[in-house]
Amino acid sequence: MNTYVPSENRYEQSMQFTNCGNSGLQLPVVSLGLWHNFGEVDTFANCREMLTYAFDHGITHFDLANNYGPPPGSAEQTFGKILRKDFAGYRDEMIISSKAGHRMWPGPYGDGCSRKSMMASIDQSLRRTGLEYFDIFYSHRYDSTTPIEETMRALADIVRQGKALYVGLSKYPIEEACKAMQLLKEEGVPCLIYQDRYNMLMRDVEKQHFDLVQESGAGFIAFSPLAQGLLTNKYLKNIPTDSRAAKPHGFLQESAITPHLQDVLNELNNIAQSIGKTLAELALLWILRKPEVTSVIIGSSSVEQLKTNLSILDETPLSERELELIEEVLAKI
Ligand SMILES: NC(=O)c1ccc[n+]([C@@H]2O[C@H](COP(=O)([O-])OP(=O)(O)OC[C@H]3O[C@@H](n4cnc5c(N)ncnc54)[C@H](OP(=O)(O)O)[C@@H]3O)[C@@H](O)[C@H]2O)c1
Repeated sequence: MNTYVPSENRYEQSMQFTNCGNSGLQLPVVSLGLWHNFGEVDTFANCREMLTYAFDHGITHFDLANNYGPPPGSAEQTFGKILRKDFAGYRDEMIISSKAGHRMWPGPYGDGCSRKSMMASIDQSLRRTGLEYFDIFYSHRYDSTTPIEETMRALADIVRQGKALYVGLSKYPIEEACKAMQLLKEEGVPCLIYQDRYNMLMRDVEKQHFDLVQESGAGFIAFSPLAQGLLTNKYLKNIPTDSRAAKPHGFLQESAITPHLQDVLNELNNIAQSIGKTLAELALLWILRKPEVTSVIIGSSSVEQLKTNLSILDETPLSERELELIEEVLAKI
C-alpha cells in the first residue's frame, strides 16, 4: 500500500469555507460523516479511498462518534488507522469531531451524558483514533437522567483538560438546547456548533433551532442531508440490494420507503431533472439555501457518490421559482 500524498491543489478547487457561527473556526460547507460505511464490516480500501478523495477535494472536517461502526467503536479505529498511515503530517489541516451520549458499553456508565460517561468515552475515543485531542467534542443527545449542568460542566472540563478544542451539542430539544448554550457560555466554553438532522423530508429545526443558533452565535451543521439516501435516485423504483435500506446493520428501514414517499421522491426527481441536476444535488443545494447552515455532513459508500455530491460546489444556488416548486411537492408529505 503506497503512502498517500495529498493533491497539491486541494485548496484551489471548489470547496468553500465559512466561519462556524461567531467563532474563528472555518468549516468546509461539505463535511464527511463516518456513521455508516467505515466500520469493521466495511472494506478498508474503500474507506481509505473515500477519506483521501475527500481530503484531496477540500473536505477538512470529519465527523465521528464513539458508537459508529458496526461494531461500535470500529469507525474510530478505521479512521485512526488511516490517520496514522496517510494523514500523519496533516493533522493541523483537519477538523476531527467525536461524540458521546448513545449506548456504547454495558452497564449504567456506557450510555447517556453523565460526567463519568463523557470522560470515559472521550478517553476511549482518543485511544481508538490515536489522537491527542479532538477538534470538536459533542454531547450526542440530551440525557434527561443527568442534570444538564453536569453534562455542560463535563464538556467544559474536557476543553480545559486539552482533550478537545471546542464543544458541540446534538439533537437537543429546543428548551434544553437553549439552557445548555447558556450554561456553556457561563462556563467560558461557548457552544461552537449545533448538529441535528435537516433535509427536505425532516425539517423540524427550522421552527426554533435556527433562531437559537443565530442568537447564541453557534454554527449549525446538518446531518443526514440526503435522508440516508432517500433523497437520491436510489429508491425511486425499488430497494437496491447494496443500499443502506437493504443492509442488516443499516439504520434506514425498508418500511420507511412507502409508495407515497416514492411518489414524492419521484416528483422531486422530476424537478431536479428539469433543471439538469440529480435529486441528491437538488437536496444538498436546498439545504445550503439557508444562511444558518455552516456545513452539511454527507455520508457516502463510494468515491463515485462523493464525487457527485461535491459537484454542487460548482453549481448556482436554486432560484426562487425552483424553491417554490420544491415547496409545493414537500407540502404533500
Ligand atoms: N448527531 C447525530 O445523531 C447523527 C445522526 C446521524 C448522522 N450523523 C452524521 O451525519 C453523517 C451523514 O449521515 P448519513 O450517512 O445519514 O447522510 P446522508 O448523506 O443523508 O446519507 C448517506 C447515504 O446516502 C447514499 N448516497 C449518498 N450520496 C449518494 C448519491 N450521490 N447517489 C446515491 N446514493 C447516495 C449512500 O447510501 P448507500 O450506503 O445506500 O449507498 C450514503 O451512505 C453521519 O455519517 C454522521 O457523521 C449524526
